[in-house]
Amino acid sequence: MARGANATESGLIHHGGLTAAGADMIEEAFGPLARDDAPREEVTEALRSLRLTGDDVRDCEPFHRGHRVRCELARTKAWVLLAILWDNTTTPIHDHCESECGFRILEGEVLETRFRCEGDQASPAGGRVLLPGEFVTTPGCTVHQLSVSGRAISIHAYAPALCLDDMQVFERA
Ligand SMILES: [Fe+2]
Repeated sequence: MARGANATESGLIHHGGLTAAGADMIEEAFGPLARDDAPREEVTEALRSLRLTGDDVRDCEPFHRGHRVRCELARTKAWVLLAILWDNTTTPIHDHCESECGFRILEGEVLETRFRCEGDQASPAGGRVLLPGEFVTTPGCTVHQLSVSGRAISIHAYAPALCLDDMQVFERA
């Protein structure tokens, strides 16, 4: 078991920095999905129903200026649930191909830019500011970039569990 992690009744492993209320909410929403064949659609719906707040995950990891800090909240072989703590940072232009289910902003503002691609060259196709409470899905091989001025907290589910080395990165055209 990872350092600082706790196991719940269903066998989910969750981060020790979560509040008790946060751990209970994850158990309720994701406990039924603690199996290797959990379908992506159910993982998406579990994330959509999850009512975590920034306060529930704030102590999982410290903010790190200029970076996004990932905090694994729960994982099975089929999916992973992450919190990301953002502090004045921008992701590469990237996709998750078959792996992204969705994400929700808990605190702060996140600018999402989506791209059209030719080969590894990406051209901006639209942008929007995502506010606390907003839930976003990225169908198919959506290519996007997320940018935060100041601080923000978001939660993300990936099924199959994302291998960050598999994430494809694009150049801005
Ligand atoms: Fe992404």
